[in-house]
Amino acid sequence: MGTQDTQESNQQASASGTGRRALLGAAVLGAAGGVLGLSGTARADEARHGGRGGLAGLPVPTIIGHRGASGYRPEHTLGSYQLALDLGADIVEAGDLVPTKDGHLVCRHEPEIGGTTDVADHPEFAGRRTTKVLDGVATTGWFTEDFTLAELKTLRAVERIPANRPHNTLYNGRWEIPTFEEVLAWQDEQTRRRGKQVWIYPETKHPTYFRKLGLGLEERVAKLLHKHGKDRKNSPVVVQSFEPTSIQRLNKLIANPLVVLLSSASSRPWDFVETGDPRTVADLVTRAGLREIAGYAQGIGPTLDLVVPKDANGNLTTPTTLVRDAHAVGLILHPYTLRNENPFLPANFRKGTDADAYGDVFGAYRAYFATGIDGVFTDNPDTGLLARADFVNG
Ligand code: G3P
Ligand code: CA
Repeated sequence: MGTQDTQESNQQASASGTGRRALLGAAVLGAAGGVLGLSGTARADEARHGGRGGLAGLPVPTIIGHRGASGYRPEHTLGSYQLALDLGADIVEAGDLVPTKDGHLVCRHEPEIGGTTDVADHPEFAGRRTTKVLDGVATTGWFTEDFTLAELKTLRAVERIPANRPHNTLYNGRWEIPTFEEVLAWQDEQTRRRGKQVWIYPETKHPTYFRKLGLGLEERVAKLLHKHGKDRKNSPVVVQSFEPTSIQRLNKLIANPLVVLLSSASSRPWDFVETGDPRTVADLVTRAGLREIAGYAQGIGPTLDLVVPKDANGNLTTPTTLVRDAHAVGLILHPYTLRNENPFLPANFRKGTDADAYGDVFGAYRAYFATGIDGVFTDNPDTGLLARADFVNG
């Protein structure tokens, strides 16, 4: 893209000032929570810095360990979560939640577990391999809802993308599939050990699909959060979902901060498809759409492309107005996902063509942080923390 250099230097020039303001604001605005009659922007600041439904005490931009530290360990394992915390992530995405046949919540990105476990090596489960239509997509493999928890516990996690992360295969077979209840206990134990509150960021996966199977997710999430005393507005648990109706349901069950995830502009949340709501994500990111979301959630988790679109060559272009528009109605933004390897970076931040080599990820962070986002999901929390330090210190 011809204007990229200019755009990047403009973004870099504005980054340091914005960053300092953000962290300085954390101290000032945190003390100002509870002020009545706040504007949308003030409510967004309040949410970011510890007001009602806010993420009290967390630095901005907040570094969220995506599926743990999945750049270094097989995703959604206690090993991955632990490393994310040890590297300093502000919040750990523990986990993407799917149910078992007997109703337990376990941490897997998808109900289909052929790519993230050794289930294919278990002849006793060969007969469970099947094809299902998952949110309109024919999917073949093994599904958590066809296994009891005891059966799933005989499996071991493996690296999902060994071509990009060959080193992570060293840890194949080391960890079990964690349950959400184990995660909540781990969170408590880590909080005690560190003398500092540990935050988690679970996600309800395919909630409409599971509700139709009689395995509704929201009640199960709420029940466990309540059992562990973590269902309050200031509890260190943020809950996210791609389905707005899941967040609306959760909003009636728990008081935690809630985040609506937004996929590509042309996509439709699956609950909208099922209920005949014709709106797409493009409709949800209009001012009216964002205002509606702000009625039941504290934030949005857009794909990074909704914040800074790419051109036909995959290079970053000019940021959209999404950050400004979301803040105007009091929503914080936690876009997803920054990963260090070349194939996952915008084309203008890649270095060479090796699929397992790192690109200029610090340049990518600078560009995204300059938009004013409140945090970001990343597979490499240590990189994100260094990028934030660069940003804040100018
Ligand atoms: O939850 C943020 C991000 O994780 C959403 O994408 O597909 O990795 O769950 P996904
Ligand atoms: Ca997720």
